[in-house]
Parts: sequence; structure tokens; C-alpha cells
Amino acid sequence: MYKARIIGTGSHVPEKVLTNKDLEAIVDTSDEWIITRTGIKERHIASNGEATSDFAYQAALNAMEMAGTSPEEIDMIIVGTITPDMITPSAACLIQSKLGAKRAAAFDIAAGCTSFLFALSVADSFIKNGNAEKILIVGAETLSKITNYEDRGTCILFGDGAGAVVLSREKGDRGILSTHLFSDGSYGDLLYMPGGGSARPASKESIEKREHYLRMDGNKVFKIAVKSLEEAALTALSHNDLTRESIDLLISHQANFRIIDAIGKRLDLPPEKIFINIDKYGNTSSASVPIAIDEANRQNRIKENNLILLDAFGAGFTWGSAVLRW
Ligand code: ACO
Repeated sequence: MYKARIIGTGSHVPEKVLTNKDLEAIVDTSDEWIITRTGIKERHIASNGEATSDFAYQAALNAMEMAGTSPEEIDMIIVGTITPDMITPSAACLIQSKLGAKRAAAFDIAAGCTSFLFALSVADSFIKNGNAEKILIVGAETLSKITNYEDRGTCILFGDGAGAVVLSREKGDRGILSTHLFSDGSYGDLLYMPGGGSARPASKESIEKREHYLRMDGNKVFKIAVKSLEEAALTALSHNDLTRESIDLLISHQANFRIIDAIGKRLDLPPEKIFINIDKYGNTSSASVPIAIDEANRQNRIKENNLILLDAFGAGFTWGSAVLRW
């Protein structure tokens, strides 16, 4: 049996750091409120002229270097993002060109903060079916460009960056054991950006109404996120006949420390089995799970044959999980 196995991980965030103290000067908030309610201390933010494909490219290079994979070997590039450099061409095509990965089919997936897991699931199918040998997946965002820095309910949350993995078709037990994806579009208006698409293209009016920024009912999103993340995690465990104790590490979307903590408690996982880096990066949407995978990997928090549970939730709503034997 062939499996899709992660053979390299990488990440990259912009240099510029926006601390909670910096935000105190912009909106009516406090370092103490942000840390208590979200767990975030700082986030990295793009400078003028930096865009999603810049971070994605660097993260991809780091992952390919660890994998020992050259651009010519890549069959497919999938980028999970809701903030591509432009509407078209896709971020994946821009990265394909920067890498010189001429053989690779390249496309984006937009599934909110769950985009990386959607990309992982699609890539897993291509590899298992024998239609690809090596796939580069990147989760990358520049959320600061669609964040309303006059709205304290959202601007304290988001950060920029990218994470990447190289998947390889390999024989054996190690690799992706399962992926489960869910969506419910009826919740679309709880987290959305009204402007910039075909319904509300950019105009003087749309700019004046600040329609090109994310809008969120954080409190409602919070409650549904906890329920959905639990559902996705339990589905993954039961599908694989796994007990909660058998999970070595939970890598969840880093949206809010309290959400991750609630999931950990519902799954009876001790703190040492839950990866947290939201304090440094905030919510980087599609980039959060692959950045966390890369950090956990480079910090040796993941050992060969460990069982890793991935869990994510985002705009749409979309949510999903994956189990990997590392
Ligand atoms: N600083 C100080 N006070 C604030 C701030 C702030 N930054 N933001 C809100 N408040 C105030 C509110 O105005 C409210 O005041 P009031 O009681 O006087 O009305 C009070 O704090 C409580 O507000 P809530 O919105 O109920 O606060 P909550 O505890 O829910 O925290 C938060 C807000 C952090 C946004 C939380 O709801 C959250 O994390 N939600 C989930 C976000 C998420 O997971 N998004 C999904 C993925 S994102 C994506 O897909 C791109």
C-alpha cells in the first residue's frame, strides 16, 4: 500500500513584528485583554511591497531543502490561501514560476483557515491514486492586508506568514492515515469579506464602507469552532480506531488559545500533547497548521511513527481533521 508521507517541512514569516503594546496605540485594547482572551502576544506583519507569494516561496524552499527535493521533481503545487497576491493568476502559479517547478500543475484552494487541510486531502488522493509522486503544499497568508485596524474585535487576532510541506508517495505504514473535510455555507455571514469579489467589486463606495476588510462575529464563531473542531477530531479517531491516549501530538489551527485549550480538554489530552505557537504568530489562517507542523518538527516534538492529529476550522464555515503516522 502506498501512502502520502511528509518528507520535508518549512515556514517563513515577515520580519516586522506587531506587539500587543503596538496595538494599544492603534485601538482601545490592552496587552492583558489580548493575552487573557486569545493567548496572543505578538504577530508578524508584512511590510509594504511584501505579498503572500514571497512568504510562500521561502517556506517552500525550506521544505524542499529538508526533503532533498528539486523543483523539477514536483508534480503538483497546491496553495491554501484566502489572500493570494491577486485574484488571478493563482498564488500557486506565481510560486511555481519563482521555484522553476516547470512540471508542476499549480492551483490554489480557498477554504478559510481550513485551506491547508483541504489541500492536504486533495494531495493525498492524487498520491494514493498514483497520479503524483511528489506534491508541494503551502499554506500562506497576508491577512494584515485585509484586516481593519479600526476594529479591535479582529485586528488583534491576525498575522502573516507561510508554512509548507513536501508529500512523497511511499510504501509502508507511515504517512497520511485519513483526512475528513466538512463545510456549512449557511454560516458564511459570521466571518466574511464583502468587497473585492464579483458581487461588490472595488469602488469608491466599497472603500468608504470598508468592505475590503474581514468582518467577524467572534463570539458566535468561537462557540461553533469549538464544537466543530471536536467533531472533526472525534471523527478522525473513530475512523482510524484510535484511542485518545494514542495521539502523540495535536496540532490544531491557532485561532485562539482558549479554543485549543477547550479542544484539548474535550479530548482529554495533557498540555504536553498540544502544540501551541499562537503567542508568537496570532491567527495566520491557512498558514497556521503548516507553520505549527514545521516548528514542532524542527523542535523535535515529533518522532518517527508518532501519531499526529491535525484539526482546523475557518470561514465558510469549513472544518476538518487529518491523522498522520510520522
Ligand atoms: N480589546 C478590549 N476589549 C475588546 C476587544 C479588544 N481587542 N475586542 C472586543 N472587546 C470587548 C467587546 O467589545 C466586549 O465588550 P462589552 O462586553 O462591553 O460589549 C467584550 O470585550 C467581550 O467581547 P466578546 O466578543 O464577547 O469577546 P470574546 O471573549 O468572544 O473574545 C475573540 C473575542 C477573541 C474575537 C473571540 O471571540 C474569538 O477568538 N473568536 C473566534 C475567532 C476564530 O476562531 N475565527 C475563526 C478562524 S479566522 C478565519 O477563518 C480567517
